[in-house]
Amino acid sequence: MAVNEKVALVTGSARRIGRAVADALAARGVHQAVHYRTSKAEADEAVEAHRAQGVEAEVFRADLSQVKEAEALASAVLERFGRIDILVNNASVFFPSPLGEVTELQWDVLMNTNLKGPFFLAQTVGLAMKAAGSGTIVNIGDWAAERPYAGYLPYCISKAGVVAMTKGLAKALAPEVRVNCINPGPVMLPEDLSEAERREVLAKTPLGRTGSPSDIANAVIFVCEGTDFVTGAVLTIDGGRTVWG
Ligand SMILES: NC(=O)c1ccc[n+]([C@@H]2O[C@H](COP(=O)([O-])OP(=O)(O)OC[C@H]3O[C@@H](n4cnc5c(N)ncnc54)[C@H](OP(=O)(O)O)[C@@H]3O)[C@@H](O)[C@H]2O)c1
Repeated sequence: MAVNEKVALVTGSARRIGRAVADALAARGVHQAVHYRTSKAEADEAVEAHRAQGVEAEVFRADLSQVKEAEALASAVLERFGRIDILVNNASVFFPSPLGEVTELQWDVLMNTNLKGPFFLAQTVGLAMKAAGSGTIVNIGDWAAERPYAGYLPYCISKAGVVAMTKGLAKALAPEVRVNCINPGPVMLPEDLSEAERREVLAKTPLGRTGSPSDIANAVIFVCEGTDFVTGAVLTIDGGRTVWG
């Protein structure tokens, strides 16, 4: 699918990896629905930057842990742009929750933000794409969906759900809509990670370095534009972290 003049909704696109994905799409002529929850100033700045690149861009706020807000976001973007050709489910929360200390609130925040919101957004947007005859959804998972971190089980379970959701939606929305998952490894480490923890991550990554947000953006571009014959696939972009063990 040539992406020029298409419309993309990238969730959590004010900062970090989501911003890099939105920037890469805008550079290819894709109009942008910039979504944020708390990062309003960064979202406004992203919209200005995309407009300066010559594409249309608009800012939308939604708390995606709430189904009503996820569905309202889809409706607002469809109303503004008339269609959504590319949905990137990128927004997510990540925090430790060691076994024995997991609370129901932590479970709900992780599941609702990382799995429930993306599912309901994909349901509304995916069916609109199917009715329109084409579209592509890219879910951002995590390599740890396959090899869960012991101290982050609810997060890893939510991302394993994203993989299952990808495969199921690929069946349910075919042949008009393709649905794929990108599983990043260590790309932008959490800002509160200690130096020792950073060294440990690198020691367990065969390529011996972190990736960059553009590695994830390039993978998104690949599944959107590089081939039309990929759906239900999981593409791991992790410097070899998954094979280390
Ligand atoms: N960073 C990595 O190395 C890495 C590794 C593996 C997987 N991943 C995955 O890659 C994706 C991007 O990673 P990242 O590190 O850039 O993500 P991030 O900074 O942790 O979060 C991305 C955005 O999610 C939004 N968000 C959080 N809760 C929300 C809610 N309830 N409703 C709506 N938006 C919400 C936030 O928007 P606001 O700022 O506007 O509040 C935030 O900017 C995530 O899916 C992550 O799980 C990342």
